[in-house]
Amino acid sequence: MRARRHPLPARRPELVGGRTARVDDLERLAHRRDREQRPARTAAELPLHLSNAPRPTRVRALLPPLLRAPGPVPATAGRGGNTVSVNTVIVTGGASGVGRALVGRLLDAGKTVITCDIDEPGLKSLAIEHEGRPLETHVTDVASHEDCDAFMDRVLAAHPNVNGLVNNAGLYLGQPVWEYDDATIERVIAVNIKGPVWLSRRLADHLLPAKRRGAIVNLASVAGEVGSSDALYGTVKAGVIGLTKSNAMNFAPYIRVNVVSPGLIVNTAIADRIPDYRYAEYKRQEQLDGDILPEYVADVCAYLLSDESRTLTGALLRADNGSYPR
Ligand SMILES: NC(=O)c1ccc[n+]([C@@H]2O[C@H](COP(=O)([O-])OP(=O)(O)OC[C@H]3O[C@@H](n4cnc5c(N)ncnc54)[C@H](O)[C@@H]3O)[C@@H](O)[C@H]2O)c1
Repeated sequence: MRARRHPLPARRPELVGGRTARVDDLERLAHRRDREQRPARTAAELPLHLSNAPRPTRVRALLPPLLRAPGPVPATAGRGGNTVSVNTVIVTGGASGVGRALVGRLLDAGKTVITCDIDEPGLKSLAIEHEGRPLETHVTDVASHEDCDAFMDRVLAAHPNVNGLVNNAGLYLGQPVWEYDDATIERVIAVNIKGPVWLSRRLADHLLPAKRRGAIVNLASVAGEVGSSDALYGTVKAGVIGLTKSNAMNFAPYIRVNVVSPGLIVNTAIADRIPDYRYAEYKRQEQLDGDILPEYVADVCAYLLSDESRTLTGALLRADNGSYPR
């Protein structure tokens, strides 16, 4: 049997109603004492998700239909506690692949999009493609803390209403673990993990003090769930899943944080770097036919930014044609 870390103090017999207390009497006494000693906290002082406020709908549901009065309308009726209009969104790695598809998808939906990338020519061609639309591009290396801070300073100054972030930029080298030198290990961790940590924290620092709502979407990979022939990539993508669940707790109840886990996305620089035998293995694992295009992964990201996913936080959604059923 596991030892208790905090052994319960030995109980002294107490008198209840002139007789020696039984175990259930003592439990009741302890609960009453707890209740009386608990500092008073009003529902308004509690974070929304801990609020003890009565739930009229639930009580009403227990009554026979004829006894049900119309009942008060909850303050959040019609919009829902987690509803947020994400209208201004940061997308990292927007110069190509999923990021580029998502930029177009969000612009089509009427959003203002700010994207950053290390690929300057790619950003220029993106800006030309979407000329005249509310798109801003920044050359930024998300692996650099300094760059991330400077980028967020500029974005927050110009777009104080920004409330969406997609940590999409990713680095996959497709090499076995013994080919990594320390500088490369550091780089892969910085692009895939540290950048999302720094950027997410800056957005949360901006929104949470004002109790403003927002949504963050991270990009993981099937490799983070089932492993990868590139051990560093498998490691960091598993880390992205952990970061998502943890930040979903850290930023609750105002910012939803979710993660997309794609399978093999064709027409991307990353797919081109996957060794042939792994490429064939990924394809063989897919239950659905047809390729996974960057646009299809962008659809899932857009869903997680939208109010249609208002009940999801800390969730992992797959865009993988059913690879490695799990
Ligand atoms: N392509 C796939 O098969 C696949 C599968 C699973 C998961 N993913 C993940 O999906 C996301 C998008 O991948 P993709 O396929 O579109 O890749 P991609 O290589 O086509 O695009 C990634 C973009 O990120 C940019 N980028 C890389 N390092 C950066 C940095 N340090 N700072 C700023 N920008 C940087 C690149 O320049 C590029 O424009 C990544 O996180 C990736 O790991 C991809």
